[in-house]
Amino acid sequence: MTLLPARVDAFNELVLLDADAGPHPWSVLALQRALNEARVWQFDNGGERVGFLVAETVLDESTLLHLAVAKAHQGQGVASQALKFWLAQLRQVGQRRCLLEVRPSNAAAIAVYRKLGFADIGQRRRYYPDGEDALVMALDLL
Ligand SMILES: CC(C)(COP(=O)(O)OP(=O)(O)OC[C@H]1O[C@@H](n2cnc3c(N)ncnc32)[C@H](O)[C@@H]1OP(=O)(O)O)[C@@H](O)C(=O)NCCC(=O)NCCS
Repeated sequence: MTLLPARVDAFNELVLLDADAGPHPWSVLALQRALNEARVWQFDNGGERVGFLVAETVLDESTLLHLAVAKAHQGQGVASQALKFWLAQLRQVGQRRCLLEVRPSNAAAIAVYRKLGFADIGQRRRYYPDGEDALVMALDLL
């Protein structure tokens, strides 16, 4: 599998992949903006686009804003592998910490993050538009 910066012209394909991946796709406007700002990384497997992540970096801290794997490729280690590659790159460029928010109901995502060493560091009350709280997780990269 490869992890590559997504190009702006991947927009339509990423929107479809996101809608297919789960019940809470990212806002298309936010995705368009993230693509324009080169903050989207796509995962390709054998020439097929199987997922993507959106991240933001402020100084030496990176935040994972979104992650999606196409339904047909879920449960095969794609997210785990892609995040391993991505975190290795963050370490290489001297990033100190990675943060993320996740729905407490998203057991599959939480399983992936815990497996990679993320720890729970807090909660944001009613963070999501439907009123669900967010679990805040962090990984020290140093
Ligand atoms: C979350 C998501 C990215 C995971 O991608 P994936 O490629 O299927 O993840 P992996 O195959 O690497 O790992 C999935 C892990 O979750 C576990 N898992 C799957 N469903 C689970 C469930 N209902 N409860 C607990 N664990 C579960 C699997 O056993 C696996 O762990 P293991 O490797 O220790 O067996 C994918 O399901 C997705 O795109 N979901 C919709 C979007 C989303 O929720 N993104 C996260 C936003 S924070």
